[in-house]
Formats: sequence, C-alpha cells, structure tokens
Amino acid sequence: MTSLLITNIGELMTQDREHRVLADAAVVLEGERISWIGAASAAPAADEEYDAGGRACLPGWVDSHTHLVFAGDRTAEFEARMAGQSYAAGGISVTVDATRRATDEELAQLVTARAAEAAAGGTTYLETKTGYGLDVDEEARGARIAAKVADEVTFLGAHLVPDGWAADDYVQLVTGAMLSAVRPYAQWADVFCETGAFTPDQSREVLRACRDAGLGLRVHGNQLGPGGGVQLAVELEAASVDHVNYLGRPDVDALAGSWSSWDSGAGRRGTVATCLPACDLSTRQPLAPARKLLDAGVEIAIASNCNPGTSYTTSMGFCVATAVLQMGLTVHQAVRAATFGGALALHREQGNDDDGARAVGSLAVGHRADLQLFSAPSATHLAYRPGMQLTHAVWRKGIRVA
Ligand code: NIG
Repeated sequence: MTSLLITNIGELMTQDREHRVLADAAVVLEGERISWIGAASAAPAADEEYDAGGRACLPGWVDSHTHLVFAGDRTAEFEARMAGQSYAAGGISVTVDATRRATDEELAQLVTARAAEAAAGGTTYLETKTGYGLDVDEEARGARIAAKVADEVTFLGAHLVPDGWAADDYVQLVTGAMLSAVRPYAQWADVFCETGAFTPDQSREVLRACRDAGLGLRVHGNQLGPGGGVQLAVELEAASVDHVNYLGRPDVDALAGSWSSWDSGAGRRGTVATCLPACDLSTRQPLAPARKLLDAGVEIAIASNCNPGTSYTTSMGFCVATAVLQMGLTVHQAVRAATFGGALALHREQGNDDDGARAVGSLAVGHRADLQLFSAPSATHLAYRPGMQLTHAVWRKGIRVA
C-alpha cells in the first residue's frame, strides 16, 4: 500500500468532534485512509511527498442533497422567477418530460458529467436522488444510473403527483411496485412534503413503507411555507430534513430535542437540518435560519441541492460562501456544515465498513482519505474572495481526482 505525505499545509481544519485547526500541518494518506495528522515538523516519512505550499486543507465536501438525474434545463422558468414570478413545484413536470425523453446513454452521460463537475469543485462524497421519472420503470432507471455514479442514492418517487393521477393512487404506486423496483439501488427514501406536492399524511405513508423496506429516511420540508415536514421528520427519526426555510419555534424545538440524546457510541443521532443556500437565493425564499438552529443545539448540514429548477449548481464553495455572507455563520460553522454536517446527515460520520473506512467529512486517523487543498492560506478565503475558483487539489479515497 503506497503512502503519501502532504506537508507544508498552512491551515488544516480537521472538522472532527474536537474541531481542531492546525497551523503548519501535515497529513499522511495510506491507501484509502488517513494514517497520520499533526505538525509538519513531526511528520513520519512516506513513499511519496506533496508540498502543499502553505495552502489550506479541509475535508472534501460532503454534498448530502442533490438531484443529478435529469435532462433538459429550466432557463425560461428561472428568467420568469427573476422577473418576479414565484417558484412552484409544478415545474418539476417539465424536467420529468425531458428526462423521460433522454436515452439511457444520454442520461448516464449527464449524471456523470455533473458528478465530475462536483468532484472538480472539491466534493468527495455525493448523495443524489431519483424524482424526475415518476413511473415505475423511469424511477428504477434513474436509480440504476445514479447508483453507478453517486455514493448514496435516494428514492424520491414522491416528488410530485404526476398528471393524470389521483394523489392516493400514486402513493400506492410509490409504496408498492415503484419501491420494489428502486429498492436494489437505493439506501434512502425522501418525500417532498409541501403544499402542492404531498401532505404530511401521504408523506408519512410513503416514508413508513420505505422504512419497512429497509431504507433510511429524509424529508423535503418547510421549503415554500410553514408545514408539517419538520415535525414528520423528527417523528420518524429521519436522518435529515432539508430546506427548512419556514420554521416556527416548535419546529426548532423538535429538531433540538432530537439531538438531546445524541450518542455517537450507540450510533444514536438526531435529525439534521440541511440548509440549501444556493436554492434559497435562486428561489428568493427566506434564507434557512441556520444560525438560529445552531444556537438551539441543532446539527446542520449545507448542501448544493443541484437540480434544474431551484439550484443549478454543484458548487459547495459557493454554498459555504453564501452561508457565511448571508446566513450569519462563521467560516468554521459553514465549513463544518458542508463536511461533518453532510456526513451526519448521511450517517457516515464515523466507523468502518468491512471493506474500508466509513467515516467521511472529517480528517482523523482511520477516516477516509477525502481532502482538498485551496489556493489560499485559510478557509476564510472561501467567503472573503467569493466566486473565485479556489480548489487547488482534491483526493478521494487517497487518489488524486482534481
Ligand atoms: O429540492 N423541492 C423539491 N425538489 C427540488 C426542486 C425540484 C425542481 O424544481 O425541479 C428542490 O428544490
């Protein structure tokens, strides 16, 4: 197994439970794992050496919410929105039509290109969802293609009730034949619990069936207005509730309560509140109250929500900068949410699989060797120099990918 010493790191943010920030640091990668971290002056010898030139080093981004399986784009809808129209879930059907028209090869090529774009921007762990198929064969096709590219696949058959269907009949399809067809490719299930999509009762039915089939749970909730998504996510002990733009005090309290018995040893976690800053800007929704959530004791994640309707970007750097500049997070809080927070939202923040490290989103001995170097001496430059391409080098599972 070859080892690589990355030395002369200006600032290294571990993002582990101790949140260490090391100056003049070094890290050793051995195969797919990190085998050593510490002061550059104390670093052990390795087979190969890479001089970071004083650059900052962070864990690779963990993007825990994307919708990469789609064809077409929605430029016209975006333009109308910028001219004052509000976002409505109905736009999803435009993408469903375009996606159904794409061949398997076309769709796979589009998804692969988007994942490569994310990797080039420092994303080393990626979740993506189905949800632009909305019939049995198309959802299964989307999940099959996603599974070849993404680290984690989420079944989002309950994204919109397709034209011509009664909602209750469609819920039966989602929880029956569609779930069976998608199940071999997915680890998670999600539902768009919102006015215009699925009610809390319909969402509960979908999520319970998916949980019974062995899938972990996630919820799109409280995006377009106050609603029951957050409460449902906490009730069902979902790993994450995403968007969280419209929260009342009971929602924040419920999320905070879910973290009161967090016990990493026992693998007991609460429900992560996943904030999607690029989506909030593109839809002109009120920004998710990230700071308030943190202050209440809620664990948050930041994700790109790359999709053609509300957030056509894979740039986690942009999301982090927005969280700092617009949502009132410190750089450290925003970086943590985009690394460790994403890992928590995917239950990947600790442990090992039979065949390798399970822990991503933080830099610690034994964790997966997923890290990035910036063309800057500190992570602060992400927000201090917004919009600049600062990714210098990226390693995923110990292999240089950008
Ligand atoms: O997460 N909110 C629902 N789903 C996507 C948007 C889907 C679309 O408009 O195509 C989201 O924002």
